[in-house]
Amino acid sequence: MAAESLHSLALLLILLLRAAGTASSDDSAVMSEILTKLSPPGWSSSQTYCKWKGVTCDSSSSSRVTAIHLASSSLSGVLPSDLSSLSQLQTLSLQQNSLSGALPSFSGLAFLQYLYLDGNNFTSVPAGAFKGLTSLQTLSLSGNLVLAPWPIPPELINSTSLVTFYADNANIVGTIPGFLGSLPNLLNLRVSYNNLTGTLPSSFGGSTIQSLWLNNQATGLSGGINVLAGMTDLTQVWLQKNQFTGPIPDLSKCTTLFDLQLRDNRFTGVVPTSLLALPSLQNVSLDNNKLQGPVPSSSRGIHITYDGTNSFCNTAPGPCDPQVAALLEVAGALGYPITLVDSWNGNDACQGWSAISCQGTNVTTVTFSKRGFSGTISPAFANLISLRTLLLNDNNLTGPIPDNLTTLTQLQVLDVSNNNLSGLIPVFPTSVKLTTTGNPFIGKLSPGGGSSPSGTNSTSGGSPGRSNGSSLSGGVIAAVVIGVLIFIGVVLFVLYKFCYINRRHRKFNRVDNPEIGMEVAKNGAMNGVNGFGGLPSELHSQSSGDHSDFPVFEGGNVAISIQVLRQVTHNFSEENILGRGGFGVVYKGELHDGTKIAVKRMESGAMGTKGMNEFQAEIAVLTKVRHRHLVALLGSCINGDERLLVYEYMPQGTLTQHLFEWQEKGYAPLTWKQRVTIALDVARGVEYLHSLAQQSFIHRDLKPSNILLGDDMRAKVADFGLVKNAPDGKYSVETRLAGTFGYLAPEYAATGRVTTKVDVYAFGVVLMEIITGRKALDDTMPDERAHLVTWFRRVLINKENIPKAIDQTLNPDEETLESIIKVAELAGHCTAREPFQRPDMGHAVNILGPLVEQWKPTSHQEEESSGINLHMSLPQALQRWQADEGTSSVFNTMSFSNTQSSIPPKPLTFPDSFSSTDCR
Ligand SMILES: *[C@@H]1O[C@H](CO)[C@@H](O)[C@H](O)[C@H]1NC(C)=O
Ligand SMILES: *[C@@H]1O[C@H](CO)[C@@H](O)[C@H](O)[C@H]1NC(C)=O
Ligand SMILES: *[C@@H]1O[C@H](CO)[C@@H](O)[C@H](O)[C@H]1NC(C)=O
Ligand SMILES: *[C@@H]1O[C@H](CO)[C@@H](O)[C@H](O)[C@H]1NC(C)=O
Ligand SMILES: *[C@@H]1O[C@H](CO)[C@@H](O)[C@H](O)[C@H]1NC(C)=O
Ligand SMILES: *[C@@H]1O[C@H](CO)[C@@H](O)[C@H](O)[C@H]1NC(C)=O
Ligand SMILES: *[C@@H]1O[C@H](CO)[C@@H](O)[C@H](O)[C@H]1NC(C)=O
Repeated sequence: MAAESLHSLALLLILLLRAAGTASSDDSAVMSEILTKLSPPGWSSSQTYCKWKGVTCDSSSSSRVTAIHLASSSLSGVLPSDLSSLSQLQTLSLQQNSLSGALPSFSGLAFLQYLYLDGNNFTSVPAGAFKGLTSLQTLSLSGNLVLAPWPIPPELINSTSLVTFYADNANIVGTIPGFLGSLPNLLNLRVSYNNLTGTLPSSFGGSTIQSLWLNNQATGLSGGINVLAGMTDLTQVWLQKNQFTGPIPDLSKCTTLFDLQLRDNRFTGVVPTSLLALPSLQNVSLDNNKLQGPVPSSSRGIHITYDGTNSFCNTAPGPCDPQVAALLEVAGALGYPITLVDSWNGNDACQGWSAISCQGTNVTTVTFSKRGFSGTISPAFANLISLRTLLLNDNNLTGPIPDNLTTLTQLQVLDVSNNNLSGLIPVFPTSVKLTTTGNPFIGKLSPGGGSSPSGTNSTSGGSPGRSNGSSLSGGVIAAVVIGVLIFIGVVLFVLYKFCYINRRHRKFNRVDNPEIGMEVAKNGAMNGVNGFGGLPSELHSQSSGDHSDFPVFEGGNVAISIQVLRQVTHNFSEENILGRGGFGVVYKGELHDGTKIAVKRMESGAMGTKGMNEFQAEIAVLTKVRHRHLVALLGSCINGDERLLVYEYMPQGTLTQHLFEWQEKGYAPLTWKQRVTIALDVARGVEYLHSLAQQSFIHRDLKPSNILLGDDMRAKVADFGLVKNAPDGKYSVETRLAGTFGYLAPEYAATGRVTTKVDVYAFGVVLMEIITGRKALDDTMPDERAHLVTWFRRVLINKENIPKAIDQTLNPDEETLESIIKVAELAGHCTAREPFQRPDMGHAVNILGPLVEQWKPTSHQEEESSGINLHMSLPQALQRWQADEGTSSVFNTMSFSNTQSSIPPKPLTFPDSFSSTDCR
């Protein structure tokens, strides 16, 4: 209950903040249109629309509508087509009515989080209806039975916040698009009772999906389901009533799976024993497939059904006859061909099994000639001890002839001719008539499985008789050669770039009379719409005097000469050192006009293998990000192997110093009020980054040494970096997260998967540090207390423990203690084990905001509208910046419309552009 009211408070606050930053426009026109068309109960033109039943407005003077709740309100009629002008809308609940006609477009509703349209009578979904719904978390359209056929909307690829997509019984056609498997937050995908066709996309392996309902498609999904083996978050899988084929894969990594519905498909093969050992599994249906082998059984009460058309060897659980078991293994190595399924049932292989001949009850002949089989020859043939004739000729079999076929004492004929076999030929007794012709790679130490039948003797096709059967096929060699060539190409390119830049630096260094003041250069435009394509280019200095070239980065950020940085830091003198981090030393500098800056100096080696291009592209983006709670990155410099980053100077140092080193530094301990204010600032900074992180991902390395304090003790987050396409950008994240153990979410440690929830977790750890005055990892503590999160979460189990756990210097009165408890609970929530249980950053802001507010009754919300245009995704913002580059004060008018005194002014000596944060 408390959480819920906090949540609504949180929502309200968000609304307040967002509204303040947006152009005012009134929603009355659309609202009256809805009133006219649908006459919802409790709506009346005699009242302002914010008072209408189910309507929530923000508290801005223009009263923008943020939520409309009209579920189960007996509405009928057609929705107005211009609903999408309700640009502040976050929730729209219209489910369980009788609305009809075409669905309006919701395109561009960038704040819309919840959209419930299920249980209506809509007739069509316009193309692009969900475009630009970058905040969308839930889209529910189930139970709209008369919809004209429509595909799963391709534009949802950009709804990266999407958690839930429900569209059962909604007349969807087409295939399941691959992007659904890549949406980083998708947990629930329910599209049963439609007419989806095609296969499960391979992107599903590794997706976050937990609940997957694809059952009862009109024609049926097809293909195998091996991809499920990689979907380790699955809890519920409904695939019944489709046309799936192939065996049930080994799902032993799906440890949370409890409900698996596979009935009414065409699955073949033996049910893996690992399936029924899954720890969470409760319900399995296997009826009406073509499953073989032993009847599945479970000793721990899993509810299994398996009736109908299956071909199990017995009617009750228990092992199959050894010959049957061996032949099923043989079939398994061939991928359980459907042609062997129909007759291969029962527990006697000599009772009408196709391709099998027997003497008495002994299998003596297996005839697989010309069956179009692919796969391998199973060593389980060796278990058919009476086998005399084995004909495998004229198929597409790969791999070796298994050694243990030589143990078949009765064997007389073995024909494997005209396949794609490879490896050494085992030595059979002379009594065996062996035919291996027509296998280009056999006996040649070359597996050759995937190479073309016309494959020549490959260059590596060593002499027959070498003991080690592993060598490379032509295909593999080609791949290796291409890989090596690409690698050489990359190396040459990087070398070229380095030489090129070094040459340019040498040239510059020869200048006798270095410029006084900041020499800066700025180029014209971003290279490529997405803003990631930056390459070094050269431009002439804008300042006078020296006409030599300056290395600059595309993207319009500022290159600062090494001479200037030397000068302002007294040649990087010891006295100017502000701090040392894992990635370099930070120096203080002072420009001739008195502006202080911080210069981080890194050896390029410290950046690992991260290439120059990436560095530059990243800088290009990060210099553009600007927020009052993010440390501004003012410019950068490449000097030989060194990279230097120039930041806004934060006079009060790091949060670490104030929390853990205050005595040594001679600081007063932070008060609770200061701590909460700092936490709120950080939450706001991170929330802003998350709002930008629609496509690109900006990740913070969130720990107190990366939280810097200004004169007024207001905090800013330093050290964030860009991760391109989070999954692909993994290596870059790892560079960033090195050394942050203690702040890392468990799923990051286990999967390397970066989501906003990883940040939320790290933020929770920082909150715990703020409350307890203890470090995330404290070796001086006994084991059970060394890991702050583990210990503090245990403390949280009983609220009465909290006072004993808080920082001694706080010595709180009752009111403060109440505030501390709220933050402690938030910290617990943020560090929940499961990412989906953690709140988003907005929630943290909403909890912390009111706590700070109570000390600071001035109009705080004003300052939060720090001119950030939350409508734009990062790529959009970049495009705007690109378009506006060079037109001087765009940043004041566009994204920073409201000039906040607290946004650091650019040093006068810098050209007119942006600012903000790090990268290392
Ligand atoms: C939906 O529309 C169909 C006709 O198109 C009508 O028969 C049906 O009653 C409607 N259902 C509801 C729930 O309004
Ligand atoms: C996704 O967003 C990008 C950038 O805004 C846009 O170019 C692209 O067309 C969008 N994709 C779809 C399918 O809407
Ligand atoms: C399902 O879609 C296929 C085309 O993919 C179509 O041939 C078939 O008629 C549809 N079935 C139904 C029941 O709509
Ligand atoms: C079947 O095999 C068993 C064991 O190898 C053997 O004892 C028996 O004589 C065989 N039966 C026939 C009919 O060949
Ligand atoms: C042949 O090899 C397979 C796999 O290595 C093994 O399971 C089987 O027992 C072996 N059979 C004989 C008769 O050696
Ligand atoms: C044989 O198998 C290879 C590899 O599995 C495959 O590429 C090829 O198409 C197959 N050829 C035939 C005739 O099935
Ligand atoms: C492989 O090499 C042998 C001996 O060098 C040659 O007789 C044969 O024609 C070659 N095969 C192919 C496919 O080139």
